[in-house]
Amino acid sequence: MRTRAALRAALGEQNPRPGLVPTLGALHAGHQALIRQAAAENGRVVVSVFLNPTQFSNPEDLSRYPRDLARDVALAVEVGANLIYAPTVAEVYPAGDATTVHVAGLTDRWEGAARPGHFAGVATVVTKLLNHVRPARAYFGEKDFQQLVVIRRLHADLALPGEIVACRTVRDSDGLALSSRNARLSPTERRQAAVLWRALFRMRTAAEGVTDVDALLAAGEKAILIESAVQLDYLAIVDPTTLEPLDRLVPGARAIIAATVGETRLIDNVLLSRESGVGSAE
Ligand code: PAJ
Repeated sequence: MRTRAALRAALGEQNPRPGLVPTLGALHAGHQALIRQAAAENGRVVVSVFLNPTQFSNPEDLSRYPRDLARDVALAVEVGANLIYAPTVAEVYPAGDATTVHVAGLTDRWEGAARPGHFAGVATVVTKLLNHVRPARAYFGEKDFQQLVVIRRLHADLALPGEIVACRTVRDSDGLALSSRNARLSPTERRQAAVLWRALFRMRTAAEGVTDVDALLAAGEKAILIESAVQLDYLAIVDPTTLEPLDRLVPGARAIIAATVGETRLIDNVLLSRESGVGSAE
């Protein structure tokens, strides 16, 4: 499906509305977990594959993003997708397009500081995709925790259709969160990259006994330092709704990390303190 009109015709006006899994393409087992969950909870699942140019602050990053629609279609269908919505850039950004969605505050820090304009691109395209598909539920990964928080905010503020569903992070056997960027790591860098999860895992384990935020951060930083080839960008313990750094653990508190391995910037996060019985049991 290349156009909104074709998508609408295929979906018809019948209820219930579908589940939606938005992606940039280059699908992996992390995306497939979202699609599987969407298939379990919805009669029909739309997977959007749209390499959104406006969320790439670095044009080189965009030009080397892997594109293989046939492969993405096969991987999506294999786990229960019914429709692939792969709109053209002109379909999403029609001639004269002049509207940008900016989520203030939440996008200033962390990934927002490292990648200027990134979250405006994400917020704008997600708003458009939710309006194109009008899903009953849309699925996003906890892997991109700040993105998830930003999307929840804009969804509530703009009263967008459907419900936002968060899905657990899918990891490799050494704990590294799956990401299309992992393909850029050399074998040595790939081994070194596992230190991100080791640091988060150490902090999560320590948080069962220690509630002092500085002590937890020190434990995480010490774990990262062991791998001298890994450059820490930030490691923080934040409130799950405001993303502000915390000085004591609250229910739902998250440790978030960004680090560069060789030329590749990786992000990850973990829940440190369960929300009174409802937090995901990572
Ligand atoms: P993309 O990086 O393709 O990711 C699509 C969805 O898959 C996001 O919700 C992301 O959080 C989730 N995901 C990625 N890796 C995951 C993993 N290891 N485990 C679980 N979920 C994972 O994120 C984007 O695309 C874009 O910004 C998008 C929301 C599609 C807007 O363009």
